[in-house]
Amino acid sequence: MADLDTSTADKQDKEYFTDTPQKVPDFFLKGSHQYDWGLKNRLSKVFNPKTGRTIMLAFDHGYFMGPTTGLERVDQTILPLEPHCDCLMLTRGIQRSIIPASTQKAIALRSSGGTSMISPMDEWEGELDGKALKLGRPGYEPLSYEDTAVDIEEAIRLNASVLAVQVFIGSQHERRSLQNLTKTIDAAARYGIAVMGVTAVGRAMARTPKYFRMATRIMAELGCHIVKCYHTDEEFETVTSCCPVPIVIAGGKKRPELDALQMAYDACEQGASGVDMGRNIFQADAPVPMMKAVRGVVHEGMKPAEAFQLYNDLKNEA
Ligand code: R5P
Repeated sequence: MADLDTSTADKQDKEYFTDTPQKVPDFFLKGSHQYDWGLKNRLSKVFNPKTGRTIMLAFDHGYFMGPTTGLERVDQTILPLEPHCDCLMLTRGIQRSIIPASTQKAIALRSSGGTSMISPMDEWEGELDGKALKLGRPGYEPLSYEDTAVDIEEAIRLNASVLAVQVFIGSQHERRSLQNLTKTIDAAARYGIAVMGVTAVGRAMARTPKYFRMATRIMAELGCHIVKCYHTDEEFETVTSCCPVPIVIAGGKKRPELDALQMAYDACEQGASGVDMGRNIFQADAPVPMMKAVRGVVHEGMKPAEAFQLYNDLKNEA
C-alpha cells in the first residue's frame, strides 16, 4: 500500500499545471493515428518511430518453397542477421524451433498457407510475351488456394505484432484469399494486432503500377494496417500515394547488391515505409554487410553508392 499523503495544505503544496493543456501525442505512422494503444505500440516496435521506416527481414519462404537457397539452416544464416533488422517475418515453425525467445525484435508471423510451389500459380489460359500460355494442371489446387494457417490465440502465444496474409488479386482464388485476409483482420482487431496484406504475383499477373495500385488499395480498404508489394521502375510514387497505410517492398529474386540497394533507396524516396526483404539479403555474397548496408539506406539516409561502399568495406574486413 502506498504511504499516505500527509500534506494538509493541499492545493499550495501540489502542482496541478492548470495553465498547461495536457499533451495530445501525435503518431508517426501513415494512416495509423486513430488506432488503439496496443496496436500503436506494436506498430512502434515494427517501424522505427525516429525514421518512420522498417527493415523487416523476410525468411518465411519455406512455408511454400521448403529449404530455399540461403535458408537451409536458419540457425546458421539468419540468426547472425537478427541484431540488424527491426522485425522478423517468419513462420511459427521456425519461430519456435530456431528463434531465441529472448529476441527483442518484432514478429511478423506468416498466417496463410496451404499450397506448395509445385502447385501452379493459377489455372489460366492466355498470351504472355506474344506466346500462348496455359497454366494449371487438372486436379491440382493452384497456389492461390490458401487458407488461414494460424489461430489468433496461437499468434498471441507467439507474441506476434503483425500477421501476414497472402492476397492473390486477379487470380483464380482471389475471393478466398481476400476472405482469409478479412477474417484475420477481424480476429486480430480483437487484440490490437496488425495485419499485413502480402501482394502475390505470378506469371498471369503483371507487375505494373496499375496492378499494384489496385491490389494495395483493395487491401488497405479492407482493413490492412500494412501492405507489402513489389517495387516498380515507373510510377511507384503513385502506388504509395493512393495507399492510405504504410507500404513495404518485397525484395524479389536475388539481384546484384548495388541494384538491390538502389531499389530500397528508390522505394523509400517514393514513399515506401521500408522493406520486407529476404533473398537480396540472405542470398547476398556477404549477408551481414548487406543487412547493414540496407540499414544505412532505410534508416541512416545513405545514398545507394555510399551504402554499397559500406557493404564492400565490411565484406573485405570479414
Ligand atoms: C513470399 O511469399 C514470402 O512472403 C517472402 O517473404 C517475400 O517474397 C519476400 O521475400 P523476398 O525479398 O525474398 O522476395
